[in-house]
Order: sequence, then structure tokens, then C-alpha cells
Amino acid sequence: MCGIVGYIGSHQAAPILVNGIKRLEYRGYDSVGVAVVNGEIEIKKEVGMIDKVNAVHCLDKMEGTRGIAHTRWATHGEPSKRNAHPHMDCTGDVAIVHNGIIENYVSIRKMLQEEGHAMASDTDSEVIAHLIEKFYEGNLETAVRKALLQIQGTYGLAAVHKRENKIVVARNGSPIVIGVKENGTFAASDASAILEHTKKMIYLDDREIGVIGPGAVVVKNLEDKKIDKGTQEIEWDLAQIEKGEFKHFMLKEIFEQPESLKNTMRGRLGNEIKLSINSRIEDSERLILVAGGTSWHAALIGRYLLEEIAKIPTEVDYSSEFRYRNPLIREKDLVVVISQSGETADTLAALREAKKRGAKTLGIINVVGSTIAREAEMGVYLHAGPEIGVASTKAFTSQVTALCMLAVYLKERKRGETDIKLMRELSTLPEKIDSVLKNKDKIKDIAGSVFKHNNFLYLGRGINFPVALEGALKLKEISYIHAEGYPAAEMKHGPIALIDENMPVVFVANKGKGYEKTLSNMEEVKARHGKIIAIATEGDEDIKRLADWVIHVPETLDILTPVINTIPLQLLAYYIADMKGLDVDKPRNLAKSVTVE
Ligand code: F6R
Repeated sequence: MCGIVGYIGSHQAAPILVNGIKRLEYRGYDSVGVAVVNGEIEIKKEVGMIDKVNAVHCLDKMEGTRGIAHTRWATHGEPSKRNAHPHMDCTGDVAIVHNGIIENYVSIRKMLQEEGHAMASDTDSEVIAHLIEKFYEGNLETAVRKALLQIQGTYGLAAVHKRENKIVVARNGSPIVIGVKENGTFAASDASAILEHTKKMIYLDDREIGVIGPGAVVVKNLEDKKIDKGTQEIEWDLAQIEKGEFKHFMLKEIFEQPESLKNTMRGRLGNEIKLSINSRIEDSERLILVAGGTSWHAALIGRYLLEEIAKIPTEVDYSSEFRYRNPLIREKDLVVVISQSGETADTLAALREAKKRGAKTLGIINVVGSTIAREAEMGVYLHAGPEIGVASTKAFTSQVTALCMLAVYLKERKRGETDIKLMRELSTLPEKIDSVLKNKDKIKDIAGSVFKHNNFLYLGRGINFPVALEGALKLKEISYIHAEGYPAAEMKHGPIALIDENMPVVFVANKGKGYEKTLSNMEEVKARHGKIIAIATEGDEDIKRLADWVIHVPETLDILTPVINTIPLQLLAYYIADMKGLDVDKPRNLAKSVTVE
């Protein structure tokens, strides 16, 4: 979604700002803009990708040592130059960039117009610039505070005034991080935008304002009370947010999975599972897993794992549904929120709802220091490293692994039983994933045979039903091919009507529980001339009788097969999208972190 970068210091701001918003490109955007202060405020903005806009408007050549920049993902008002940020007040003294949604902007806009302010855009954000103008009496910080007190909604904000050598940033529901260095200070909506300059970060909390000067930062709350924040050292490095030899981030991240999985398990497996979570978790009598998108698929697998291993009744809900359906929470419920970014608005709202209703809460999160990670009572970090490709890959396999460790942990604590066998098998997964990745050329060949089809069906049983859902989601989001996932047995209740020679059907068909029944489903597809791609266990040659293409994966315990089976489905989606010439890392209409509800 939208991205913000700010810089004030001894260097030219524009190259730092343009480079910073480029680092945020993966989040998805439709227009771009930069404001630099050099006596006056100069603004350049346009619809389109940063490189193209920069080539025409030379954004990175603008002169001045402080400025703010933005990538916009349209919510209020179409993508257009006039709606792109930064927005100015009537006098041209103030410029702002804003992420989030101002819910009461219609009434504020009306009031401001009645007072004589002229609006230059259709956005909700512009009212902030005019409110600052209205309240400005020689101090930007005070004017921003007064403006924010008028606003209902969410904001990550950066504002400049042409006569004040500072940038004022603020946060409510949309992240802002401040990066500190000796000769300059940075601000961004995502640490990866400024990581190459500094690893020392200050994370703003909701209803906090940061006043940043060339070498100083002061943080206060909306009530004007100073807050001692302290800096945190970020653990990611630059190489992790660059593509290296890979064509796309998504491909790089798929290939990183042996390593990311090791990092998720590092220091946590042994004679017992080591998770630094509170012992209060041991009283939990019911688990409720909430998440969205791919993380919701991980939650579905988590339910199987928690019920099978820890024998605790477990429910799964979409965060967006959980928060609105008046969920009945009991004292001994544990609500587990799962999110790669730790910023998804629906999941954050679900976490807050669960806390309000008295549940214990635990976050399974990748991004360290993210809002959900900070607000959940307990947490398990994935340590999968930064995920830049919009389509989630390595975070998913790490989420499933973390849920499996949570299940083993609860089994130990509640029933006093240690699952050494499962822990040993978990530690072999990175090597097994490596051997699947070695099959990439075969998967690419299969992609070459099927990429022109318009519809795909993905089928799996039991713990591999969510894998079918995830395979279908990966394909549709990056290749724009319609794909559906179903439990294999459900095919006969409807989807079978779709099967003909133009319908590739991807079966997750490992040997083990339900295997024979899955073969019967394959027969049914074959009889209707459907094309079959089967994910099968190494050594299973019989399956070739039914499948047009077979991708073999190493054997593992039934309950761990989802981690291995997901890899070829990610690769299949990737190669199909790449063959269609699509922008795999930035699929249309999608954003990496969905901070609107
Ligand atoms: C799919 C995808 C999305 C996210 C979803 C939740 O590839 O990336 O479906 O999984 O938006 O995001 P997080 O996990 O950040 O809460």
C-alpha cells in the first residue's frame, strides 16, 4: 500500500527520497510524488512507476536538504496527478504525505471550504494540509497536533513547513519508523526504505508525534507529553532486500526457504521445544487462529496440527470476519494472530477485539517491531527475513513450521509428552525443500505446457486441502488465471462439471492418509479428459498411469507434507506468471501489506 519516506540532514534529500520510495515499490502503488524544501517547497508528482516518472520529471535532481516523498495506492479519488501526494495547503507553505484513511474527511472538507480553503484534489488526505494551515501560528508541531485532534481515522503522516527546519511525523494505525544517524534523520512507513542508511530505528506508536531535525528526534503523544522511546537495532541487512542474481524477489524468496525455515527453527528444537512464551498459555482450553490471505491458509493447516498433535480444540477465522461477528470468547481461550507483515489492518483489529474481550493473545509474526508484534501479549517471530515479493512464499512455510512448533510445545506443557520424532523430522525439512528446488526445470517445463489455460483446479485432502487453496491463490494473484482450491472429495459436489480437456487439475497426492481416495478422484478427472498435474511422493511411479505430469517430493510425516508440497506449487505459479510476461513481484491491484480495512 502507500509508502512514505522523509529525510532531513546535510545531504541532498531528493536522491535519498527517490531511492527510499523505490525500496517500497513492492508494496504496490499507482502514483508517486516528492516535495523538497529549499526556501520554497517544490513538488513534483505524477501517475506511474517511479523510474518512468523520474525519467521525465527528474525527481532525484530536486534541490534541498529536507523533503518528503510518497507512493500512493488509490483509495479516495482515482489515480491521477492531482490526487497524488504530497498535498499542499492554500499558501504553499505546508506539504504533507499521508497513509491511511480519514473517516470524517467529508465534514472537515466542507468546514474548510466554508472557511475559504480551496481543495485541489479528491483525496481525504488533503484536508490535513489545510487543517495545519488553519492552526499554524509559527509552530508546525503544534499545528499538526491540533489538526490530528480533529481527525477520525488512521494515519501515517509526514509534514514539512517551508520556514521550519524539521519534519513532523505522526502515527495512528499506519506505521511510521524514524531512522537515526549522526548527520541526518530519516522517516519511513517501512524500515526497508531507509535500512541502507541506518539500522537504528525508533518505532512510533499510535497517537504519537515525532519532531525530527537534522540530528535530533523528539517524540511526544497527542497530549503533548514527551515520551522516551529509545532506539532499536534492526536485524535485517541490505543484501536481504536486494534481488541478487534472481530475476524476481518472489523467485529469490522461494529459493531462500531452506534457510528461512532453519532460521524459524534455530535454537527452538532440542530435547524440548523452546519458545519464549508465557506459561499462561498452558491453561488454554481452546485456540482461535485468525489471519487473512495466505496467513489464513497457514492457520487452516495450524488447526490440523494443533488438534492432531496438542489435542486442543482449535477454530480458524478470517480476521475480517472475526472482528465483526461478535465472537464468544471464554476466559481460557487463546487467540493466535498470524501475519507476515504484522500490519494487516483486519488482523490488527481482530487482535484488539480479542484483547478487549479478555482472551490471551499470541502473535506469529515475521516483521520484528511491527504493530501486531508489539501489541500481542506473547509472540513467536518467524525470522524468515524480509519478504519483498507481494505474493507470500517463505513466510507461509515458516508460519506452518512455527504453528507446528507451537503444537509440540503445547503437547509437552499440557500433556507432559515430548515429540522427539516430530522435532527430528522438522529439522530435515530444509534439506528436503532443497531437493524439491533442484526440480525447478521440470516444473518450468510443466508451466510451459499449461500456461495458456484460463482456469485451474487445485485439489487436496485433509491437511493438504489448505495447500490446494494456497496453490490456487498463488496462481491467481500473480498470473491472473482463474484458479480454485477444493477438498478433493468436494469435486463431485459441483466443480466436476467444469472438467474437460481445457482444465488442468493440480492434485496434492502424497502417499499416506487418503491417498487411495485421491487416486479415485484422479480417475474421475481422467475420465472427463481433464489434464492432471500430481504432486506425489518420491518413488511413486504408479501415479504416472493417471497423471499427465508428476512432480515428486521427498517423503516426510503426513502432518509435515504441507511444507514440502507448497514449494512446487509456488514454483509452478511463478513460472506460469513469468511466461505470461507479468510483473511477478508487483501484481496488479495488490499490495504487500494491507493497511486498509
Ligand atoms: C498472498 C498474500 C496475502 C497476505 C495477506 C495477509 O500471497 O500475500 O494474501 O497473506 O494480505 O498478510 P499478512 O500475513 O501480512 O497479514
